[in-house]
Amino acid sequence: MTELPSIAFTKIAIPSRGVAILTIATKGGLGTSGQALDDACGGMIRRAMKVADFDGKAKATLDIIAPEGLGLDRVCLIGIGEAGDRSEADWRNYGGVASAFVKPGKNVSVLLENVGDDSISGADAAGFADGMCLKLYKFDRYKTRSSADGEDNGDKSKKPAKVTISLSEHLDARRLHKSQNAVTEGVIVARDLVNEPANVLGPVEFAERARALKKLGVHVEILTEKEMTKLKMGALLGVGQGSSRPTRLAVMTWNGGKPREKPLAFIGKGVVFDTGGISIKPASGMEDMKGDMGGAAAVTGLMHALATRKAKVNVIGAIGLVENMPDGNAQRPGDIVTSMSGQTIEIVNTDAEGRLVLADLLWYVQDRFKPKFMINLATLTGAIMVALGGHHAGLFSNDDDLAANLAAAGLKADEPVWRMPLGKDYDKMIDSRFADMKNTGGRMAGAITAAQFLQRYVNDVPWAHLDVAGTAMGSKKTDINSSWASGFGVRLLNQLVAEFYE
Ligand code: BES
Ligand code: MN
Ligand code: ZN
Repeated sequence: MTELPSIAFTKIAIPSRGVAILTIATKGGLGTSGQALDDACGGMIRRAMKVADFDGKAKATLDIIAPEGLGLDRVCLIGIGEAGDRSEADWRNYGGVASAFVKPGKNVSVLLENVGDDSISGADAAGFADGMCLKLYKFDRYKTRSSADGEDNGDKSKKPAKVTISLSEHLDARRLHKSQNAVTEGVIVARDLVNEPANVLGPVEFAERARALKKLGVHVEILTEKEMTKLKMGALLGVGQGSSRPTRLAVMTWNGGKPREKPLAFIGKGVVFDTGGISIKPASGMEDMKGDMGGAAAVTGLMHALATRKAKVNVIGAIGLVENMPDGNAQRPGDIVTSMSGQTIEIVNTDAEGRLVLADLLWYVQDRFKPKFMINLATLTGAIMVALGGHHAGLFSNDDDLAANLAAAGLKADEPVWRMPLGKDYDKMIDSRFADMKNTGGRMAGAITAAQFLQRYVNDVPWAHLDVAGTAMGSKKTDINSSWASGFGVRLLNQLVAEFYE
């Protein structure tokens, strides 16, 4: 929604106007160019550092306004901690912290200067730029006035900032930024979808957003209810039965790999709004259920990222788009539906709808595409939030290698996952008196029995389920996100693909 700043990389240059941002390592002090700036303003920078006890501690900031003798509006310092123990995530976080000094209409020069044996790489700078863009994202489409907190929401006329990042490895940085920015764009696609209210984004509208990926060379197919009925997707269709808006299934295909190579499959829960249906949810907090399509949003954002950076891999993204509403025509507790797999399901709680959506999707995708693996993402259970809070997504898998790869990718992307158990005893909990299974196993082990339900639809295909109910939205602000929606999963899965499957 917010227009992101333009980012350029150049070799080290001493800035002369606008805002200057200098990174300072602990005990590192100023570099040659920083020193030149300090000399030009009569030692004001050093003096400010001393007065404020600014020693370059990671993420500390110091803002020097209208420094005497310089053409600059401000000189801002960002601490980058000790040399040698900075991770990829740290550089993104530094960029996120620095973004506080990036305002619309301004020229911003960032000086990433090597000081002593501390040498800043192109990858570090590209990460810094990513963090800056991710943190600057705002969903302000529906803000028409400035608000009391001074946010300039009304005025959308100002041009985005121009950021120039200078460092000695600027050519590396430029190249890396180009492909990483595709991923940042994908995160923003996901955040936009999750933040959008359900009156604007119904199943049909979401499907159109998926269709828009065509311009990136993604093949997009959208199935209507008629086609899903033919395929006997009774589980998915039952969920949308009470909604006046029709259900859709979007299949996105990116063929960047070898022609006959098996595709990787990503599958997303796209409940555009979850009232709970006849088993209706309490009123308090129900507005958050506009984000119950966070899984589908992440899959869409991932496809955007992979296609934009022309990933050398074949990928399927399949999303089930549906609204869960109470109505005279809605599904009832006690109803029995037949899924595409032929297995029957007793609906004991219409609010356990996500697994019904995924059951038919998982079956359809393995049956039609014979994928190398399937990974599904879903805001599936409140129980996973009780277990893991907003810091880890729940990971369930029938394949140790896939699970290990996901865990490693999660650490690198700073979107961590935590593996949870599966097993026969949990599986038994969803046996039904009347049908092959029921759609909930009760309050105990709620996130696990939901995963057991899904596993009944994957056969022997390597599969992982990410329960992102706690991580896709609503989590606290971080160094790289101020928005309600996080876009969780896009960076994690892009990392997984790039590191292990490309
Ligand atoms: N969409 C919800 C899960 C959810 C809750 C996501 C809070 C994000 C935030 C899901 O469809 C649901 O209602 N799950 C029920 C399952 C229960 C009825 C077995 C739950 O977790 O309470
Ligand atoms: Mn529900
Ligand atoms: Zn739901």
